[in-house]
Amino acid sequence: TLVSSTPLLQAARANGYAVGAFNVHTLEMLQAVVEAAEEAQAPLILQSTVGTVKHLGAEYIVSAAETAAKRASVPIALHLDHCTEFDLIVQCIRAGYTSVMIDASMFPFQENAAMTKRVVEIARAAGVNVEAELGKVGGVEDDIVVAENEALMADPDECRRFVEMTGVPTLAPAIGTAHGIYKGEPKIDFNRIQAIAGLVDVPLVLHGGSGIPEEQVKRCVSLGMAKMNIATEIRIVFSDAIKAVFAQNPDENDPRKYMVPAKKAVKAAALEKIAMLGSAGRA
Ligand code: 13P
Ligand code: ZN
Ligand code: NA
Repeated sequence: TLVSSTPLLQAARANGYAVGAFNVHTLEMLQAVVEAAEEAQAPLILQSTVGTVKHLGAEYIVSAAETAAKRASVPIALHLDHCTEFDLIVQCIRAGYTSVMIDASMFPFQENAAMTKRVVEIARAAGVNVEAELGKVGGVEDDIVVAENEALMADPDECRRFVEMTGVPTLAPAIGTAHGIYKGEPKIDFNRIQAIAGLVDVPLVLHGGSGIPEEQVKRCVSLGMAKMNIATEIRIVFSDAIKAVFAQNPDENDPRKYMVPAKKAVKAAALEKIAMLGSAGRA
């Protein structure tokens, strides 16, 4: 059965590795990352954004994730990514999500803290993890669009006050990564991660995982990042594999055939991320 991500992430921070959190949009993508985690014996976080909840329905996502969790030998959590709507958070918790993100990063500090605190209170009663964001992660994720010049790094002292005020069990501080693929390399502020980690003992979350070079991922993890979100890269390999099938055979019409290489590609990408996060063998 699905577990809360809080203990998975606390164990990760305490032991210097990070749990891969993969945004899935189809059953095959979900199965692919579960197979990867199982093969690597790594704890796993399945994620869906608000757009995917609206596309597939929370109940369908929960039943697929529950089925995976029942069959798997590794712990699996199901997380709602970047949600700005309180009602949808409640709905997903009722449906069986074991972790939720309240993204109120577009609001001033006090409002962000107040909204987060409200979510923490209802989630705590349900044994569900909560993640909040401070600063603003750049790039595009669903309907949340943050231009490069609007991206904002999190302030370490605000991080400390925020965690104290809200009791939030996991925190995503913006430290220079962005959603989507980078033009060039990300400009990660490692000193800032270190400062935040020194003031805040909850597990930290690294957004914008696609496209970060391995060395930089490892450095982030060594400094206290205990969860990394990966969305764009697995979406691209999944879609590219399907495109390759149709390029070769435009008349293919059997999803049981054209989904096979797509699923394989997602599994391979997930295994790579799990290896760089150091979570293999930690289940
Ligand atoms: P990427 O799309 O860069 O992998 O970012 C994922 C993410 O942060 C989802 O919340
Ligand atoms: Zn994100
Ligand atoms: Na990215």
